[in-house]
Amino acid sequence: MADSEPQREDRPVLFLDSGVGGLPYLSAAAAEFPNERFIYLADRRNFPYGERAPEEVQRAILAAAGAAVAAFRPKVSVVACNTASVVALDALRAEYAIPFVGVVPAVKPAAEQSRSGRIGVLATARTVEDRYLLGLIERFAADCYVLSVAGGDIVTFVERRYFVSQAVERRTVVQEAARRLREARIDTVVLGCTHFLHVERELAEALGPDIRVIDSRAGVTRRLGTVLREHGLARSAERTGERTGDRTADARARMYVTCGPGDSLDADSLEAESEDYQRFAEQFGLTYNGVLPVEAV
Ligand code: DGL
Repeated sequence: MADSEPQREDRPVLFLDSGVGGLPYLSAAAAEFPNERFIYLADRRNFPYGERAPEEVQRAILAAAGAAVAAFRPKVSVVACNTASVVALDALRAEYAIPFVGVVPAVKPAAEQSRSGRIGVLATARTVEDRYLLGLIERFAADCYVLSVAGGDIVTFVERRYFVSQAVERRTVVQEAARRLREARIDTVVLGCTHFLHVERELAEALGPDIRVIDSRAGVTRRLGTVLREHGLARSAERTGERTGDRTADARARMYVTCGPGDSLDADSLEAESEDYQRFAEQFGLTYNGVLPVEAV
C-alpha cells in the first residue's frame, strides 16, 4: 500500500480545541493508548470560542475540522472543547464521515458524587448559556442546586499569559470564580472548559479542601477506547512496530496551530506566540509542527 494511503487503523486520532485546553485530554488518551498516534490542532485563529455567538463557534470548528481532516486524514476526532462540543457536535457529525467524541461538562458524575446536592459548573460564557448544558442539568442534576459560573478571563489567561506569568498572577486569576463558588456552598465543581485543567491546582487551592474538582478526562478516554474498538480502528502493538521499525522514530503526537486570512498577528508576534505553543507542546510530550491555514469566521 502506498504511503499516501495508510491503513485506516494507522491513521492518527485528531484532537481539536480553540487553543491549548485540550492538551491534558490528549495526554490522558496517549497514556491509555500507547499504540495510537495523535494530531492536536489549536484553532488560535478563531480563539476564543467561549465569547462568540453559536453560529460563529460552529463555523470555526467546522473550518478547523475540515482543514485537519484534509491535511491529516484522521480516523477519529476528539473535540476537546466543551464550547465546540455543546454547540456543534451534531454539525460535525453531519459534515465529516469520521466518528467524533465530544467533551461536555461532567454534570452527571458531579451530581452522583455530591453529598450536599449543591454543585458548580465553571465553563465559558457560551457553554453556560447553551441549552445543551441546561439539558444536562435537567437530565442528570434535576434535584441539585447548580451554580454555573463563566470564567472567560481564566481561559484567556491560560492561552495568552500562562508562561509569562508569575505564580501570584495564576493564583489571582482564579480568585473571583472561586469566591462565587465557595459562597454558594457547593461541594463539587465541574471544570466545564478544558482550559481550566491548566490551572487546576490554583483553582483547587482557592476553592479549599471541602470542594471536590472534577473533569471529563476519564469518561472521554473511555469513550475514545470504545469508539476505536467498535469501529475496528484500534492500532495494535504489532502494527506500531511494523510501520516504524522503531517507535521512537515516529513523532507520536504532533501539535499544529491555525492561522488565517486577516490574522491580526504580524510575523514577529506569530513567532513569539509560536514559542509559547512550542512550550505547551513540550510540556505534554508533543512535537510542535507549526501552522495550518483555516478560514477566519
Ligand atoms: N477550551 C474550550 C472549552 O472547553 C473553550 C475555550 C475558548 O473560549 O475558546 O470550552
